[in-house]
Amino acid sequence: GGTVPIPGPSGWPLFGNVLQIDFENPTITVDDWAEQYGEIYRLQVPWGDCYVVSSQALINELCDETRFKKKHDSGLLELQNGVHNGIFTADTSDPQWGLAHRILTPAFGPASIGAMFPEMHEVASQLALKWARHGPDTAIMVTDDFTRLTLDTIALCSMDYRFNSYYHDDLHPFITAMSGFLLESGMRFMRPKFMNIFFRSATKKYFADIALLRKTAQEVIDARKQNPGSSRKDLLSAMLDGVDPKTGQKLTDDAIIDNLITFLIAGHETTSGLLSFAFYQLIKNPETLVKAQAEVDSVVGRGPLLLEHMSKLPYISAVLKETLRLCPTIATIEVTPMVDQVIGGGKYFLPKGSDIFLQLSAAHKDARVHGDAAAKFTPERMLDDSYQKINKDFPNFWKPFGNGQRGCIGRAFAMQEAILAMALLLQHFDFKLDNPNYELQFLEMLTIKPKNFYMRASLRHGQT
Ligand code: HEM
Repeated sequence: GGTVPIPGPSGWPLFGNVLQIDFENPTITVDDWAEQYGEIYRLQVPWGDCYVVSSQALINELCDETRFKKKHDSGLLELQNGVHNGIFTADTSDPQWGLAHRILTPAFGPASIGAMFPEMHEVASQLALKWARHGPDTAIMVTDDFTRLTLDTIALCSMDYRFNSYYHDDLHPFITAMSGFLLESGMRFMRPKFMNIFFRSATKKYFADIALLRKTAQEVIDARKQNPGSSRKDLLSAMLDGVDPKTGQKLTDDAIIDNLITFLIAGHETTSGLLSFAFYQLIKNPETLVKAQAEVDSVVGRGPLLLEHMSKLPYISAVLKETLRLCPTIATIEVTPMVDQVIGGGKYFLPKGSDIFLQLSAAHKDARVHGDAAAKFTPERMLDDSYQKINKDFPNFWKPFGNGQRGCIGRAFAMQEAILAMALLLQHFDFKLDNPNYELQFLEMLTIKPKNFYMRASLRHGQT
């Protein structure tokens, strides 16, 4: 049979559906429409039509890299003002992407990540110490403290740079510049191009922020080059020393700067959001908190947390994976057909070059995969055996780290960092909501995290 028309909300002239979207929480609008229009719908936006896909079956088809590739436009293009064709923002066909991908893949592999355990542990311990000092009656601003953790960790592990965020109330200038850069990239993406001339001072600050980011990164590189004997095996040394096995090329200083800043951007909000949502879920589902804590007690006891424990905490790992199923901190990824395509068993026509959103926040709750309990926080379903079984019947049902060759290069890094932090915190503290009536709200920028989420932490074993 022929293809069927793809439904969607009717739009306004010129603006299409853009003004119908809740700009504070676009994901909620987009997911609501998915509920209304089904597994695929069309959105009209000023730069053309796009399609939003929210079933496991269709997403599985869109994960076929012989037919679809990462869509290289929208928000990414603004980020290129600061990080050019770094590994996240480059088109897959750009030789700079392949070069960086080949040099960096081993640097993000299990051995390298394992070697970063001491640095990760040091930063997580600083957080535990801070919460111990707070005492049980202080409201902890969860997302802020986890962002300090993830930023300090990625800066230390990628370039041996210390932000020491816990020791200062004011943020380090590099961090302020990075937030400014991200925020304004988002604003520039939202507003029509010609309007940028009305935002002269914002634009000036934007490029000053970018200059500060790049200057700082260059200084770090120069310092390392002057001290070549340093035995540090961080991401910076991997990039300075790495030779591409395919072309024999090395990364230029400019490419290294692009990628260092990229890691700081890609590698902090996502993991901070993950930890924040995970603690929210544990507190809201006390039986899971009890289980996770029991696992730490039996595997680690009261002694020091070690690298070898990381692979022996399957329940905690499942808690994090289940959190990413229900609250993927990157809610959507975009692909485009390399030639005209029809998906859904002959049903839906997708023109070459069109913009297709894989709406993870909705697809991860597909009732065909998870039945009635799709919205329930159940870490058991993400334990290895159960996960493999679901994935056999419903491939690609869980995609929080993206897909294929353009999937997250920092996945092992993020998981080790998150397992470590969660295990250490559960070993030492009991947790509860600051406001027992808190209901989850969302704060969206490039990523999603809980909004206004405060909790309290009390030491389990007395002052240590
Ligand atoms: C790519 C998610 C942590 C570095 C991606 C993508 C997703 C993702 C969905 C694909 C984006 C797309 O298709 O446009 C996450 C989540 C994280 C996390 C949920 C934490 C829970 C990290 C960390 C780092 C990192 C810690 C760095 C240390 C990157 C990079 C890419 C990427 C460089 C681009 C890879 C490429 O295009 O070749 N991530 N990420 N991520 N991520 Fe992560």
